[in-house]
Amino acid sequence: MSIRPLTLVEYIGQEEVKKQVRVLIDSAKKRVESLDHIILAGPPGLGKTTLATVIATEMGSQIKVTSAPVIEKKGDIVGLLTSLKDGDILFIDEIHRLSPAFEEILYPAMEDFKLDIIIGGGVGKKRYSKAITLDLSRFTLIGATTRIGMLSDPLLSRFGVILTLDYYTEGELSEIVKRVAQIMAVEIEEEACMEIARHSRGTPRIANKILKRVYDFSLSHNRERIDTDTVRQALRLFSIKDYGIDSLMLKYLRILVESFHGGPIGLTTLCSALNEDRKTIEEVIEPFLLRMGFIKKTKVGRVAQGKAFEFLSNFRDT
Ligand code: ADE
Repeated sequence: MSIRPLTLVEYIGQEEVKKQVRVLIDSAKKRVESLDHIILAGPPGLGKTTLATVIATEMGSQIKVTSAPVIEKKGDIVGLLTSLKDGDILFIDEIHRLSPAFEEILYPAMEDFKLDIIIGGGVGKKRYSKAITLDLSRFTLIGATTRIGMLSDPLLSRFGVILTLDYYTEGELSEIVKRVAQIMAVEIEEEACMEIARHSRGTPRIANKILKRVYDFSLSHNRERIDTDTVRQALRLFSIKDYGIDSLMLKYLRILVESFHGGPIGLTTLCSALNEDRKTIEEVIEPFLLRMGFIKKTKVGRVAQGKAFEFLSNFRDT
């Protein structure tokens, strides 16, 4: 059994997204056509690649997985597109990093399943080049992005649906940990799964990583069953912070709470204090802090909430 879920039933959480995916798949199967192109948006580690593979399995399709930064020349993307068969899925991770020249190759491919290429040949004065159009198979492009705001409008408009993944609840993360532990044949108590979930910043990738460290700890200490105490000792040993907050989020909270007395503070001020651009703050740092109720966005700026003050005062103590 794979650690990654293979079907929608095995995929935990993201209930609204799963309902939409179910409808898209049912409809495509009944029409006996390929799925419309899909964007999967949301913070890193929430299972976008996993969901794309689940969609492929549910459709009975082959999936080719790539990432925009590894597409270096036109030939790479042309090679990928021409290798696809009807119904296949092409998954491009970090699609916001695709260069404009490669985006333009995608437009006719996505819209009309056509590829416009220029071929050259001959030598010396007999050199020639001519434009030809190739027919492609009816594939589905699934693009994943952590930065939907960085996608160009022409590219975004060619996707039929945008599915946005959100942070998982602690209950859902605990279920994910339990499932993975079962697959790994690791004995773990219910409350220990919850303790891992509480430190995972709503993110399965973090939860799975913590589970691995906790398992290392339990093996090293010859503990056959993982309980809350084992989890806490492992968290301390590996310096894993409450909520799994990362250093950028911590810096943000410190600036807001300690340098600006909890705000309100405008986005522009935050940008210069953090030395980050607006999009990184709005799309990478703030979603989790908003979701956790650490901060609020108001008309006059960002304001820290009681939970943020509490978190930082506990944090200083540890
Ligand atoms: N692993 C990563 N994301 C998952 C999810 N949503 N359900 C189950 N396992 C996962």
